[in-house]
Amino acid sequence: MITTESINVIREQVRAWRIKGETVAFVPTMGNLHLGHITLVKEARSRADHVIASIFVNPMQFGQNEDLDAYPKTLIDDQQALIAAGAELLFTPTPAIIYPKGMDVQTFVEVPLISDQLCGESRPGHFRGVATIVCKLFNIVQPDIAVFGQKDFQQLLVIKTMVEDLSMPIEIVGVETIREASGLAMSSRNGYLTSAQKQQAAVLKQTLDKMANELCSGKQINEVIKAAQQVIASAGFRNDYLDIRHAKSFNKALSSDNELVILVAAYMGDTRLIDNLVVRLN
Ligand code: PAF
Repeated sequence: MITTESINVIREQVRAWRIKGETVAFVPTMGNLHLGHITLVKEARSRADHVIASIFVNPMQFGQNEDLDAYPKTLIDDQQALIAAGAELLFTPTPAIIYPKGMDVQTFVEVPLISDQLCGESRPGHFRGVATIVCKLFNIVQPDIAVFGQKDFQQLLVIKTMVEDLSMPIEIVGVETIREASGLAMSSRNGYLTSAQKQQAAVLKQTLDKMANELCSGKQINEVIKAAQQVIASAGFRNDYLDIRHAKSFNKALSSDNELVILVAAYMGDTRLIDNLVVRLN
């Protein structure tokens, strides 16, 4: 696998593959890879002739009081895991390569409405940063397919909306969340948790499952949310949001909807965890 911070190296390699009529799948990441990321790379591998991954801790999607500087950097391990999963090219640009004029004077991409809700409300500017970097990476790599985790459900919707709105010829693939044996969704941020906190954090998925069962048995949406908020708080979490939305439109769920997504964000100590569960009612 070639690792490069050069946009030209990426473009030349992709051009060479395209001339031969070969397809390219892309997996953008911020590094500190875990099994969730590796599953994305394997999915990419199964769908295209070549896989390109990127590692870039994108400063534009972090708020001022967030963990940008502390974000774990594990390049050597990441490279080995990517090679084993079948990636052939790794793009590791620096902020100066991505934002040469500085972020404040950089053209940005903003997906309206969805970007201001839930994670977007708690982290103002976050989805503008995500949409802008993903758009830039797509323009550099020009993949046929790009693969993302469904754990970041709202991010996936933002990216799908951007691709549709801007007529980008890229198929966006969402891959199911990979979980620890306890049910805790895999995340680079789990590394900030003590082992006791990790055990407590398993309550998030248990609560999502319980909520799904309650929705299936016809319990009112507001009551489902209220009861779950109490469970999460009693497990030692500070609630950020807990909501139920229509899984496609992202509108507040109505009792007549049958394709729902339950979304949660909560703090365990200083660590903000997110999770979600799609629920289909008959
Ligand atoms: O999900 C992530 O790791 C990041 O938000 C992404 C998509 C790589 C953009 O920086």
